[in-house]
Amino acid sequence: MSNKKVSRRQFLNYTLTGVGGFMAASILMPMIRFAIDPALQAKAEGDFILTSQKIDELTDVPVRVDFSYEQVDAWYKSEVSEMAWVYKEGDKIIALSPVCKHLGCTVNWEGGEHKNEYFCACHGGRYEKNGKNIAGTPPTGPLDQYEVSEKDGYLMLGKKIPNTLA
Ligand code: FES
Repeated sequence: MSNKKVSRRQFLNYTLTGVGGFMAASILMPMIRFAIDPALQAKAEGDFILTSQKIDELTDVPVRVDFSYEQVDAWYKSEVSEMAWVYKEGDKIIALSPVCKHLGCTVNWEGGEHKNEYFCACHGGRYEKNGKNIAGTPPTGPLDQYEVSEKDGYLMLGKKIPNTLA
């Protein structure tokens, strides 16, 4: 058995250090957890979103496909609605973003009586069916593409990627 005695001063020092440390940890841990919470959230990017578009109903004429997903921005969750222009080229499914590469308006297939083209009514931007911007109109780049996948015969859309067709 040790003969070391703990003085009253040492005992108070140990006790106060222990209690103080415990209290500091109790206060700091929730703050740290709160600060890094977004980093702990599972990232939705890269995930595919199931749409209500049947694959076998797609043709070589672009159709509008609406979809939505939950977005987590720091601690704010919201439902985001987006759409894509989708068509088939042989067996390949092409899904294009409708966001105009000029200033971000929404392009429409055969809008403004422009046959076989996407048309942006904001400043007269035009794109070919594969999303290639038509020279002489305001957009300076092609429409982005969506990654595509399929589940049980339905179209799934993934993240936006640079256009691989134009
Ligand atoms: S935003 Fe589309 S042409 Fe300007």
